[in-house]
Amino acid sequence: MRGLLTLRDLSTDKIMELIKYAMKLKKGFRISYPDKKIATIFFENSTRTHYSFQCALMNLGVKVIDCNTHTSSVAKGETLYDTVRTFEALGVDGVVIRHSQDEYFKELENIQIPIFNGGDGKSNHPTQSLLDLMTIYEEYGRFEGLKCCIVGDILHSRVAHTNIEVMRRLGMEVYISGPEEYNDNSAEWIPLDEACKTMDVVMLLRVQFERHQEKMQMTVEEYHNKYGMTVERMKSMKQNAIIMHPAPINRGVEIADEVAECEKSRIYKQMTNGVYVRMAVISDALDGNL
Ligand code: CP
Repeated sequence: MRGLLTLRDLSTDKIMELIKYAMKLKKGFRISYPDKKIATIFFENSTRTHYSFQCALMNLGVKVIDCNTHTSSVAKGETLYDTVRTFEALGVDGVVIRHSQDEYFKELENIQIPIFNGGDGKSNHPTQSLLDLMTIYEEYGRFEGLKCCIVGDILHSRVAHTNIEVMRRLGMEVYISGPEEYNDNSAEWIPLDEACKTMDVVMLLRVQFERHQEKMQMTVEEYHNKYGMTVERMKSMKQNAIIMHPAPINRGVEIADEVAECEKSRIYKQMTNGVYVRMAVISDALDGNL
């Protein structure tokens, strides 16, 4: 299949190539595809991924077709395959898809046009990981030996699962922290206060209530005090260490209001980098390389 479905399909050399291409685009390099059309099809809510893909497409001169899944024939029961096959038949050159089903793309093996995964269930969020990696690389100029702790609702997080796998391949030490109920043992668990003092990157996650079967076992205040990035925890971090979060953020839950835009926070830089990473991925695919 063409496009970008999971980072597991990409070698570390290819990942570095895409990050460096995104950095070149951020510096002003321009390439244009005015004859191409790409559809964005979001079955789950999104602000960053949906609209940064659209910004990336506009920056590349690609025409954007935004499929409204509430007013399209999806609402009449059309399958995902038939929806995507329809866009392919209409002459669209690629589709961006977000879907709540893990690995939904396995149903789309007959599709010939590139598919860009904007997130599937709890499994993959490849362009989010690439923008996270770009942000870390801009900060440190390397991955080897860096320590990152991902904090929070690991169990339900496609961001955590994608990042843990790819960060390890790039030579980073990855840990997890947060409530025991969200620990899926996908990495070594360490206490948050220890993580804040020792990590180069502390990556916070939102509690993903929409994917929970049961109610969280504590109040949001308890969560914040035990597992949130408070001002005190931020001050205990190493001088050059950074705070990341894929967002949307819940101020006062996993991150204090005052910390969200503090000097150590790279949260809004991550969003900016998302546009360039998505430009790089789309351009590479339209050039026939992905
Ligand atoms: N980080 C991220 O995926 O945000 P959205 O859900 O707003 O796209």
